[in-house]
Amino acid sequence: MSTHIGAKNGEIAETVLFPGDPLRAKFIAENFLEDVVQYSSVRNMFGFTGTYKGHRISVQGSGMGIPSLSIYATELIKFYGVKTIIRVGTAGGMREDVKIGDVILGQGSTTDSAVTANTFGAGVHYAPISDFELLDRAYHVAQDMSVPVRVGNIFAADRFYNDELDMKKLADYGCVATEMESAGLFLIGAKYNIKTLSILTCSDNLVTGESASSKEREQSFTDMMKVSLETGIRG
Ligand code: HPA
Repeated sequence: MSTHIGAKNGEIAETVLFPGDPLRAKFIAENFLEDVVQYSSVRNMFGFTGTYKGHRISVQGSGMGIPSLSIYATELIKFYGVKTIIRVGTAGGMREDVKIGDVILGQGSTTDSAVTANTFGAGVHYAPISDFELLDRAYHVAQDMSVPVRVGNIFAADRFYNDELDMKKLADYGCVATEMESAGLFLIGAKYNIKTLSILTCSDNLVTGESASSKEREQSFTDMMKVSLETGIRG
């Protein structure tokens, strides 16, 4: 048991898929994994371990935002020996050419969160990046599956509702999509020397105002999950 995860030692696999929504963790476990055991329901932030194509893999809800994700990521690593964490989630496209349903791989993550500054102090603007081996593998898995894939800089915003940020400028400097977690995950991955990656689907586009229909959401979710699971088990 750790403070926020109710698993016993050995109940969590070395590779964890990490959706924000705990009900999505449940859905993934029920629909994509076999021989599933639920190891935690603390705060309803569910966690499950099962197998995919015979490989042991876990799926744990992270909650929304860097503070919540950081709690679960840290406990997975420090108390349960997790070695690979792949965030699976949605993001808002920041450029017109990021299409609804595209799978986006986070190469790095820019943030307005204070976690990086608080880690290194004034004057250092650390660049959180994903693990290259995982990124490379996910990219090739997606290509092999003919899933449209983008690789780029994810803007991890501290606030979902923020009309003060210059999102266009961030997009002009190469940010492809925004969500609220990736920078925190990559930072923790670096601190504890484990492998991290974000595999996202574009659920809405900030430039065009488009958002995914329920059918599009379902298809792109399935694409993202197949890429994530295949990437997870090849590690
Ligand atoms: N902002 C932050 N998080 C998100 C968004 C967004 O526009 N879309 C999906 N997750």
